Amino acid sequence: MNIRYLKKERLFKIDTAHVSYVMAVVDEEQFLEHVYFGRRLQDSDLRYLLRHLETPFLPSTNKGDRGKVLACMKHELPGELCGDHRDGAVTIRSAGGHTALQPYYVSHRIYQGKDKLEGLPATFGHADGTETLEITMEDPVLKARFLLSWSVFSDSDAIMRSLKVINDSKEPVRLEKALSISLDMDLADADQKPFRLLTLDGAWARERHMNYRDIGYGFQGICSNRGESSHHEHPFLGLVSPSATQHRGEVYGFHLAYSGNFRGQVERDVFDTVRVTLGINPDRFSFVLRPGESFQAPEGIMVYSCEGLGGMTRTLHDLYRNHLIRGVWKDRKRPILINNWEATYFNFDSDKLLDIARAAKEAGIEMFVMDDGWFGKRDTDTSGLGDWFVNEKKIKGGLKKLVDEINALGMKFGIWIEPEMISPDSDLYRAHPDWAIRIPGRDPVQIRNQYVLDLSRKEVLDTVYERIANVLKSANIEYVKWDMNRTLTDFGGAFLGAENQDELCHRYVLGLYEMQRRLVDDFPNLLLENCSSGGARFDPGMLYYSPQIWCSDNTDAIERLMIQEGTALLYPLSTMGAHVSVTPNHIVGRNTAFETRGNVALAGTFGYELDITKLGEKELAAIPQQIALYHKYNDLIRRGDYYRIASYRENHLYDCWAVVSKDKSEAVVTYVQVLKIPDDRSRTLRIPGLDPGRDYAVIVDRTSDIAPEDDPSVILPVGPRARIHGDALMYAGLPMPNFWGDFRSAIIYLSEI
Ligand code: DGJ
Repeated sequence: MNIRYLKKERLFKIDTAHVSYVMAVVDEEQFLEHVYFGRRLQDSDLRYLLRHLETPFLPSTNKGDRGKVLACMKHELPGELCGDHRDGAVTIRSAGGHTALQPYYVSHRIYQGKDKLEGLPATFGHADGTETLEITMEDPVLKARFLLSWSVFSDSDAIMRSLKVINDSKEPVRLEKALSISLDMDLADADQKPFRLLTLDGAWARERHMNYRDIGYGFQGICSNRGESSHHEHPFLGLVSPSATQHRGEVYGFHLAYSGNFRGQVERDVFDTVRVTLGINPDRFSFVLRPGESFQAPEGIMVYSCEGLGGMTRTLHDLYRNHLIRGVWKDRKRPILINNWEATYFNFDSDKLLDIARAAKEAGIEMFVMDDGWFGKRDTDTSGLGDWFVNEKKIKGGLKKLVDEINALGMKFGIWIEPEMISPDSDLYRAHPDWAIRIPGRDPVQIRNQYVLDLSRKEVLDTVYERIANVLKSANIEYVKWDMNRTLTDFGGAFLGAENQDELCHRYVLGLYEMQRRLVDDFPNLLLENCSSGGARFDPGMLYYSPQIWCSDNTDAIERLMIQEGTALLYPLSTMGAHVSVTPNHIVGRNTAFETRGNVALAGTFGYELDITKLGEKELAAIPQQIALYHKYNDLIRRGDYYRIASYRENHLYDCWAVVSKDKSEAVVTYVQVLKIPDDRSRTLRIPGLDPGRDYAVIVDRTSDIAPEDDPSVILPVGPRARIHGDALMYAGLPMPNFWGDFRSAIIYLSEI
């Protein structure tokens, strides 16, 4: 890690172990030009890459063709309406109503450490292993100042970028766009082939599916205008060389640490330069900045990998594990939980919950989580949100009694909450109808029979937080599942003036972050899991507050392969909420082996989402075996390096991934045969990431329920216990079990001998 300013060349060079990022101050006018982002370069004098050395391309000396020059320059912070017709990174509407903007370099500082971003989640690190370059730019006409920062950590190849806009003028202005990332780069990779765009798209119950598309001329991209990062699009853009694989080739990844409306866009111009931008969605966003006021945009994360998608993935996993997730649970093994949602939905009382808890304890489960339905009048999803008082008709004798009884069994207790919401049929709504986000005179849209509370309003936030905190203080509650079950619509804030209405969505997100900050500060030992109708708010912003996030309401093992593949592309396995549920699966009706449901959930936080009192004998007997696998592998899965070996999304037949310990002494490989094809031959898959110079014992770990008499595929073709050299496993491969039937799976353990 090293950040330098080369005075003579007027170049900034940011180096990590394998990556360089270079910018230059050019021309007497002080433009900040982007020079390079990619594989680490030794050479520092990279001014030869600047077109401005050729006289016709100096904007100041070529005034007659200034527009042409600016239109093809690679800008670090592109302005608007001053010659560059591409979409700029910042829009400011002056008091006179104009939006032209051209930022120029003013000064810079390079310092150890990294400043916090006011009210926003962001990566962090020890001062001695962290360096930041802050460049101040300004538009002298608007008297607007821009603080652009790039930070790096000594143990990471990721580069973090942030932007702060300050109004130094004497008049109020309206900030209409402030994008966190803006990068002008060439479309072509080393083979002169255009990068392809990779996005994670989905819907409820099929979140974060990987999708590729060609980058055409003009604009393409993704966005959310739903008030949260959403099921539908993800605040991530990948630019992937067409020849890149999991293990080789060039990949750029751009990720936003933000949980609200965002836009990620790629704009290709006729010169085959692409402008990649990512930040708060400018659509229905604006912020009034009075003289002296500033706006902090969320943090953007940029990764370059020449080791394929896997290189990007491992950089992000380590970055998030070491520099984003906080709190006592950050590195800790999580208790195996059982959640009653799919077991009972709203139909439960404390007797039923205790029955489940007792049977769960018997099987080795460590924590009981009471889901939706324990408060107010809440027997369906039509009422009760906001009334955070225990319903003693259901929880007989009160919450403390139930929690004490569960603790007495030797189990921890966790609870579900949905603090951001209000049901029209609730005492809270009857008392404060104006606390819901709404536009006066317009009947607000209900989704799941509920409205969203206006968290931009302090009294709303304070009241709801206090109610929730009182519940948490009333008993020994060690885990919270914070849910959010609808998108934002009817963007209207009762306390905001007409000219501030477009501030609502961002202020809402700031309110959400403030509430979660209070929660983790006031209850530092709490294990917090975020959730949003499944995985609609799985983003780096939420990860700053909770070390794990519920991945999807879809617990079908086969659907989960695609959801978890897309999620694990960016997020460590320790963050992915994954549970075993019953079959036929509640959402897709599929029947899969209990073993496969377990093996897929073991790639995440692991737990159960079922009525254990109704399980058959074989499945019940398999639970302690699955739990033993969790205890055996979870340290490795939480801390190791993740390698994607095969993708069912691509091949439509099988899926495979591995986690290898950092010291390469052990690995766990999960293989899922989704569809059987008539073939007597086993599939041989190469296992990456091992040490080619060491020997490994190969052991198949299976649970008993799935070895029916008619299943001949009990062991690996190489035998139940083999000793194989690392180079053979890596370069020749390991034959996988050849199952008779669909949706079968095995876990294979490799341990150095
Ligand atoms: C949506 C969540 O994703 C589910 O797990 C469950 O908690 C329900 N909400 C409860 O309403």
